[in-house]
Amino acid sequence: MLELSEREPTDLGRANDKPAAGAVEAVTNKNEGKDMDKASTMTLEVTGLSKMFFVSDESTAGGIREATFSLKPGTFFTLLGPSGCGKTTTLRCIAGLERPDRGLIRLGNEVLFDSSRGIAVPLNHRNIGMVFQSYAIWPHMTVFENVAFPLRVAKDRKYSRAEITKLVDDALKRVGLDGLQTRSSTRLSGGQQQRVALARAIVRQPKLLLLDEPLSNLDATLRDEMRTELKRLQQQVGITTIYVTHDQTEALEMSDLVAVIDKGNVVQMAPPRDIYNRPTSAFVAGFVGATNLVRGKVRREVNGSGFGSVVLEGGHEIQCAFQQVLPAEKDIAVSIRPESMSIKPLAAPVHDGDNRLKGTVMLSGFLGNMIRYNVKIGERVFQINAGPETMFEIGTEVFVDFPGSAALGVPWELVPNEPAQAAVV
Ligand SMILES: Nc1ncnc2c1ncn2[C@@H]1O[C@H](COP(=O)(O)OP(=O)(O)O)[C@@H](O)[C@H]1O
Ligand SMILES: [Mg+2]
Repeated sequence: MLELSEREPTDLGRANDKPAAGAVEAVTNKNEGKDMDKASTMTLEVTGLSKMFFVSDESTAGGIREATFSLKPGTFFTLLGPSGCGKTTTLRCIAGLERPDRGLIRLGNEVLFDSSRGIAVPLNHRNIGMVFQSYAIWPHMTVFENVAFPLRVAKDRKYSRAEITKLVDDALKRVGLDGLQTRSSTRLSGGQQQRVALARAIVRQPKLLLLDEPLSNLDATLRDEMRTELKRLQQQVGITTIYVTHDQTEALEMSDLVAVIDKGNVVQMAPPRDIYNRPTSAFVAGFVGATNLVRGKVRREVNGSGFGSVVLEGGHEIQCAFQQVLPAEKDIAVSIRPESMSIKPLAAPVHDGDNRLKGTVMLSGFLGNMIRYNVKIGERVFQINAGPETMFEIGTEVFVDFPGSAALGVPWELVPNEPAQAAVV
């Protein structure tokens, strides 16, 4: 069976509840006066962060389990996973909107949370900027007032009128909205609102920026544009950023580092290229980019650093690349990207090292820069992306060739199915 990645179009995070406004209050800075460059030289360390929600004594509603990562200053880090996998929970724990069950959160030298020592810095003392899915721009305020809001409500510090003007103007400049200070917020485009939300998140020069699906309310074209903008802004400001999304394209394009989350577990953490090219499980391979996932069995034990033979469901034997040590007879998934397979006429010679399967063209679709074919091999239909110059009629018998290095043998499941631990409060 052909399994292409399917992602949920919506996110069920608590994007629309109060925290949007609370988030603004969270943008506080005890070290006001430090410039952004200094503030951004902060490593974020998260160790064993767990926060589980239980619907009854036995069953777990969800949350995040044992998340551990360390972000160098300026890193653009993305939490990627399907709706409900625990992304927003992780972000809320870091912001201080949620109290973790266990774990350690340290930003620079400051411990924000440590369950073993009972430390929990309140959210309005964490120097963190946030933008939520619904960015909560107040319609009755001007652009200036929206961005100035965190400064006006700050409890730990009073800002002079001159300071407010300077900080707001600086933030608006950074997001490319200079000159719109007096514009009514009701007269902003979606993209401009997004920028106002960003300006508001960075106006107090936070050490860390948390973005929870900030582009999901925009239409496709604008989303594309804002993605580039956001990345540019993040690079320019140099602020360590945690970005939450269920959209793998966003994750791949924007991030230095991606953590793929499945049911509360971080299942792989790596740079985008590795997540795409070297997924360590069928879940990651299927979630990040379209792929053909086929069941198979390892023929002889593989040592994890090379090639091995796999018998596919249906009996074909192929060469696969492996990153894990796997015993003989182990049931696995083979992931082959549509762009790694090529269609050849039956007369074509096979290249050394290529796997070759025989199939029948079932469907072809012209996409301008490529043609997408569905080719039936045995009982399975494979998706193959071929050059726009190829022309194979439906019903034609063809060879499908792909190098062993492009067929990745991965375990179906990496996530241990251990019962959830009761929350330690
Ligand atoms: N306050 C809560 N009470 C009970 N369950 C919750 C609560 N917050 C989140 N959850 C559950 O935890 C899981 C993860 O939620 P969330 O972190 O919002 O996921 P994501 O942001 O990845 O979509 C979901 O199954 C959600 O229903
Ligand atoms: Mg969410």
